[in-house]
Amino acid sequence: MPYAHIVGTGSSLPQRVLTNEDLEKIVDTSDEWITRRTGIKERRISRKEIDESTTDLGTRAAKAAMEMADVSPDQVDAIVVATVTADHLFPSAACMIQQELEANNAAAYDLSAGCSGFIFGLETANNSIRQGTADTVLVVGAERLSSIINWQDRGTCVLLGDGAGAVVLRKTEAKGGVLSTHTKSDGRFGDLLCSKEGNDYLPETLQDVSLRPYHLTMEGNRLFKQAVSSMASITERALAQNGLTRHDIQMVVPHQANLRILQAVAEKIGMPMDKFFTNLDKYGNTSAASIPIALDEAHRRGLISVDDHVLLVSFGAGLTWGASILRWTCETPSDH
Ligand code: ACO
Repeated sequence: MPYAHIVGTGSSLPQRVLTNEDLEKIVDTSDEWITRRTGIKERRISRKEIDESTTDLGTRAAKAAMEMADVSPDQVDAIVVATVTADHLFPSAACMIQQELEANNAAAYDLSAGCSGFIFGLETANNSIRQGTADTVLVVGAERLSSIINWQDRGTCVLLGDGAGAVVLRKTEAKGGVLSTHTKSDGRFGDLLCSKEGNDYLPETLQDVSLRPYHLTMEGNRLFKQAVSSMASITERALAQNGLTRHDIQMVVPHQANLRILQAVAEKIGMPMDKFFTNLDKYGNTSAASIPIALDEAHRRGLISVDDHVLLVSFGAGLTWGASILRWTCETPSDH
């Protein structure tokens, strides 16, 4: 059976930087509190007027990944976009990105699994390639969480940001690439993190209808505990399935929600924090985009070597969680 290898990575971040000091002027918070409780120093906030919609960001990330992979648009068989903030209810972000890329041979669809969406997308892409229904698949995580942030809620607005990341997967006979994906959900905890009501998605003619905005709401404390136990348990499953131990993992690229969550996961699974790649200080939590953005940054900086075992692990709204183990086969780009 063939394997799905990652052959290109890309990312795209909005230009506007919103620092903790900027947030001090918006809500009753402090740089000291945000840094100590989350590790976040700044995040990027998109502006549609300068072409930073979810589709724009996703398209740029996809183009960067395709350029690295040397894949042309007509070679792409499928585009899977993980997002909870597509520009429209429909057409999907994936179809809009497809149009921008002119990847006219692809099947394109969105996938909603909160912050774990990228790993769910990787699973779908891996299955298509391994079963022979696709040779080349683009998986994109793209979000504009700023569009659903309640900017009066200091408990959530300090955590989130916008951005997009992407990978190109290609069918290869040699063992390597995506070794496994594990995904899990528990809808009973859906209320811990949700965006239920809103009017931004309605047609303009209906936007005057009185509806509460569909601001994101979160029970941070309970979510924190669920995140730690779920990410630790799914990591153990992934390691066991591959006959690996924590010592065989050279790098962990986790969902970038909160540094303290990652420290607690590291302690629980017995891995040192220096194996965890983090960039949440710069971008905050970008939901489904956080893992592909981090993976692209780690790869372009030459921090991942060929044959390294890389663990991706995530947790998000649904609740959903997932882990994937990769054997890295993509050479560091020469311009790093
Ligand atoms: N600035 C200052 N004070 C604040 C802020 C803020 N931005 N936010 C909350 N506080 C206050 C609270 O009001 C509370 O005050 P009180 O003691 O007077 O009532 C105090 O700080 C402590 O609040 P807690 O919620 O208990 O703080 P905690 O240490 O749990 O940290 C946090 C909150 C950072 C949200 C944490 O619970 C967390 O990270 N949870 C997980 C959330 C998460 O990761 N979500 C994303 C995962 S899923 C996804 O990625 C979409």
